[in-house]
Amino acid sequence: MASTRSCITLILTLALAASVCAIAIPKASPIAPRQTLPTLSQDQISAFRPYTLFASAAYCNPSVTRTWTCGANCDANPGFQPLASGGNDGTVQYWYVGFDPALNTVIVAHQGTDSKNLTADLTDLDIPMEKLDASLFPGIDPSIRVHTGFADAHARTAQTVLAEVQAALQQYGVQSVVITGHSLGAVLSLLDAVYLALHLPSSVSIRTIGYGLPRVGNSHFASYVDAHVQLTHITNKHDPFPILPFQFLGFRQPAGEVHIDQANTWVECLGEENGSTECIDGAVPEVWDGTPEDHEGPYDGIVMGLGEC
Ligand SMILES: *[C@@H]1O[C@H](CO)[C@@H](O)[C@H](O)[C@H]1NC(C)=O
Ligand SMILES: *[C@@H]1O[C@H](CO)[C@@H](O)[C@H](O)[C@H]1NC(C)=O
Repeated sequence: MASTRSCITLILTLALAASVCAIAIPKASPIAPRQTLPTLSQDQISAFRPYTLFASAAYCNPSVTRTWTCGANCDANPGFQPLASGGNDGTVQYWYVGFDPALNTVIVAHQGTDSKNLTADLTDLDIPMEKLDASLFPGIDPSIRVHTGFADAHARTAQTVLAEVQAALQQYGVQSVVITGHSLGAVLSLLDAVYLALHLPSSVSIRTIGYGLPRVGNSHFASYVDAHVQLTHITNKHDPFPILPFQFLGFRQPAGEVHIDQANTWVECLGEENGSTECIDGAVPEVWDGTPEDHEGPYDGIVMGLGEC
């Protein structure tokens, strides 16, 4: 019943809000748990840094990403050559495309949304899933279902981004694309990875690096991503958003998680929905165990969001 649903949604929203308030109360620093899963070296963590900066810069107005004048996050990737940007801070998330000579790859970055907006999208108990659009995703397995709102948001920039990526690959004569984003931006990056691979030559390597990625689709979607997408999705501490929407609604995370623990160690979590307490599912058993601020970071010292522009 609609009233029960909205009531439960309200409770979840309040639970998330309560955890926002809870951070004001100082907590004893947690005792670092014994590390049993493999961890990333400092060099491996540092290798993510340019992409983390690109993901944070995606929150900035397209006029400043197009000129690469967004402030500290742009300055920290000084060689980047912006080619196109768009979005309108309303119905279309900001995005930009460019080329990074140091990384020798085309970069696509997508803006996220603030946690409040995301809570409404993710805690509803009546989240519709749909097949991927056959004209955008020709030949895709029809058992794959994704969050309808996410598919709609992706469709609004898909063809423009494809055209800009094709132009960039040609202009720079490279065979590599890295797509990155935070939150809803990570969702759009993952859908772009699936989409672009269906339209670009198979010689082009496509890698996706997502931060705070929520669940996007069903188990068929997760399996498809595992088989076809080079994905790393980084989860921070007790961020509740990667465990939403709920698994009992049929949503499932693909493999590729790297979890940042309370001691800022980056842990490699193999498989889909790795249940270890050193990975997000085990670290945040229930959504009200989460700390929504952890969604914004910091990821190796870098915070996501508008405030960084
Ligand atoms: C959040 O949602 C409101 C209302 O739908 C919208 O006006 C606002 O732009 C959204 N914020 C972000 C960051 O997406
Ligand atoms: C979790 O990840 C570790 C590697 O980091 C792996 O050894 C283990 O099998 C995974 N567990 C599950 C349940 O997938």
